[in-house]
Amino acid sequence: ARPQPSVAKMRLGAAATIILVPFASFIGHEVWQVTSNLRFPVAPSDPTATMRAAVYGIHGKTKDVLTMDEARAQPQQPAAPGFIVIRVIAAALNPVDFKQIRNSQPGFLVPKPRIAGFDVSGVVLSAGEGTDFKVGEAVYGMLPLMGSAWGSLAEVTAADARCFARAPTTIPLEAASALPLVGLTVMQVFEQAGLFAGEKRKEQTMLVQAAAGGVGSFAVQFARHVLGFGRVLGTCSARNAEYVRELGATATVDYTHEPFEEAVRAIGGVDAVLDPMAWSYMDRTLDPANGVLRPGANYCHILSTDWQENSAEASLVTVLQGPYQKWRSRFLKLFAPDSPQIFTTPVQPDGAGLARLARIVDDGLVRPVIGRYFDGLGSAVEAFEYLETGHARGKVVIRVSGVQETSA
Ligand SMILES: NC(=O)c1ccc[n+]([C@@H]2O[C@H](COP(=O)([O-])OP(=O)(O)OC[C@H]3O[C@@H](n4cnc5c(N)ncnc54)[C@H](OP(=O)(O)O)[C@@H]3O)[C@@H](O)[C@H]2O)c1
Repeated sequence: ARPQPSVAKMRLGAAATIILVPFASFIGHEVWQVTSNLRFPVAPSDPTATMRAAVYGIHGKTKDVLTMDEARAQPQQPAAPGFIVIRVIAAALNPVDFKQIRNSQPGFLVPKPRIAGFDVSGVVLSAGEGTDFKVGEAVYGMLPLMGSAWGSLAEVTAADARCFARAPTTIPLEAASALPLVGLTVMQVFEQAGLFAGEKRKEQTMLVQAAAGGVGSFAVQFARHVLGFGRVLGTCSARNAEYVRELGATATVDYTHEPFEEAVRAIGGVDAVLDPMAWSYMDRTLDPANGVLRPGANYCHILSTDWQENSAEASLVTVLQGPYQKWRSRFLKLFAPDSPQIFTTPVQPDGAGLARLARIVDDGLVRPVIGRYFDGLGSAVEAFEYLETGHARGKVVIRVSGVQETSA
């Protein structure tokens, strides 16, 4: 006869199942989220057709490793089924571009040599079977952050058509390149937090950190004009205060003179926060002694690190902070409904989201704000150096097409 398991062993097994199954589901969910960019197929290339592109083959400082490749293979035309090939009109820069260039991430996640850049606007050169686009249409989109060797800092780019949408018609096409990555980041995290729900938010206040930057400039407008928050408080240096108010902030905090906690506590806390700052800001925001969050507040922290070279960026602890804090806050909320809820998100390419954003832009609710244009792919390093100061205003855009360039 087989020996019967003891009652104690059965209880241990049941307890382990109760703990491990949800834990494994959480981990699985987060791994699925973080790797979703890898699941976009990569557009095939045609080595016989060449183009200019800003390329890096090893990690390092942008000025040391980003070079101009004059004869880079082009994406294959006609486009393969499901893909579109685009003539790049403009490419906007984002901190994730230079963070990827600096960091030693596993090669299979970031195949090299790689064309830099993710945000793009342009004209369809070729639309593969099964896509909803036509040759000559103006489109904008965000390329997948991992897995693809194609980038936006090139004369021609290509991606899965699901990453693109028709560009807004009421703004110049080159300005549309400034919208996808920051717009999708803000919309995805606000959606996750349930802020799109029909409820009136006239009585509510949102704090937007780094309100003068790419993400912040978009978030201020979106919180005020799309979500309808009655008060939006933005942190920025004094030189940017007027600019941030013009975008829709009802008040600004000069973080160089006053800790944001003090200003927020003085108005009795906030109902929601959009935070693109480093992890230390999460501790400062969540500490109940600082009085930043009102009961039940939504805290949207977008998995960020600062602009400086920072070894913590590549550490597993940093990567796991977001999911850990998010699930911890959900667990605590079961016992304390007034505790803050945390939302974090790595941005995902999303053509449907961009189609929605194009309508919002064409309705005049949000506009791209470009602090500085650079001309030609040859200006990529200079443009990155400006962004890497951590004090760019709005977005930084490189005009790619229509610019006469001499080879360096
Ligand atoms: N999780 C995601 O999916 C995701 C998506 C997008 C961005 N991000 C991350 O979010 C961060 C911000 O991105 P971004 O595109 O907005 O960058 P950005 O455009 O380079 O931001 C620059 C702005 O940050 C402001 N700033 C710098 N230090 C500040 C401080 N201590 N307090 C308040 N404002 C400060 C500066 O304002 P002043 O000049 O007035 O100081 C400047 O206008 C980056 O780390 C980026 O990687 C994450």
